[in-house]
Amino acid sequence: MAPLKDETVEALRDTIHQLESRVQQLEAKLGSTGGNASSRGSRSNSDSVRMILMGPPGAGKGTQAPKIKDKYCACHLATGDMLRSQVTKKTALGREAKKIMDQGGLVSDEIMVNMIKGELENNTECRQGFILDGFPRTVAQAERLDNMLSEKNQKLQHAVELQIDDGLLVSRITGRLIHPASGRSYHKIFNPPKEHMTDDVTGEPLIQRSDDTAETLKKRLSTYHDQTSPVVAYYKKTGIWKPIDASQAPGQVWKSLLGVFEKEKQPSTTGSLLSRIGLKG
Ligand code: AP5
Repeated sequence: MAPLKDETVEALRDTIHQLESRVQQLEAKLGSTGGNASSRGSRSNSDSVRMILMGPPGAGKGTQAPKIKDKYCACHLATGDMLRSQVTKKTALGREAKKIMDQGGLVSDEIMVNMIKGELENNTECRQGFILDGFPRTVAQAERLDNMLSEKNQKLQHAVELQIDDGLLVSRITGRLIHPASGRSYHKIFNPPKEHMTDDVTGEPLIQRSDDTAETLKKRLSTYHDQTSPVVAYYKKTGIWKPIDASQAPGQVWKSLLGVFEKEKQPSTTGSLLSRIGLKG
């Protein structure tokens, strides 16, 4: 076979990039239209995600996580939602947790680690990966998560930090409305439901969280800076930390997140395709 010219190689690379973008667009479309269970199940490992979303209360973790869940068909484990579900069920844990949450403190590491461990082991939605929202919140939780994953020969891919000034969070938190059953969140001004105090999807009533007051927010922010900022520092050392400006509009924050995923994906998939046809350079 005659040697390939540089221009030919470049043209082939361009074609491969275009094909890959098209495949990703089609996959995203399939994900957003629901897809069927078998097509989700047949996704390759390169389409899975294992990530954590960090950021202070109101940064937008709960707003962005469901979109990532839809994109990757992964599970969204929000520890705050799990605790609130215990509160609603009036379990012993729920009663204890409510006191701590309303004071802006943290529930014990042991309880939270076991909660996540149970989900990662038993929740079938987590087979295609996971998005951890609100966990880990202490360095001890981060270390335990690393141990849990290394037992399964897995590693986190992204530790995304939603960065935003404390001053912008008061209006976000005090205007938030929640659909308790799904964890879906709205905002009275920034993201209002179609009908007053009513969930768009189920038509059920929305509520305000009991810890969403300006006073409790101050305590939650101080807990975040004291106990969770060191977790950010922990991931900065690992090379998987990615900061995102969370003061932007929600659509823009989502675009920044997509940028994080694309950056990671492009070199490896393109590399593997190129190497398969002997053009990796
Ligand atoms: P948790 O439920 O995790 O609360 P949090 O971390 O304080 O975070 P939030 O849910 O308040 O904020 P968010 O970033 O999800 O914001 P959202 O997207 O809704 O935890 C609650 C408590 O449980 C803790 O205080 C602790 O006690 C306990 N706990 C939980 N996990 C624990 C753990 N691992 N260890 C120990 N204890 C634990 O957005 C907020 C509002 O802003 C919404 O109304 C939204 O519509 C709006 N909004 C979002 N993005 C934008 C935007 N870009 N522009 C304008 N508005 C926006």
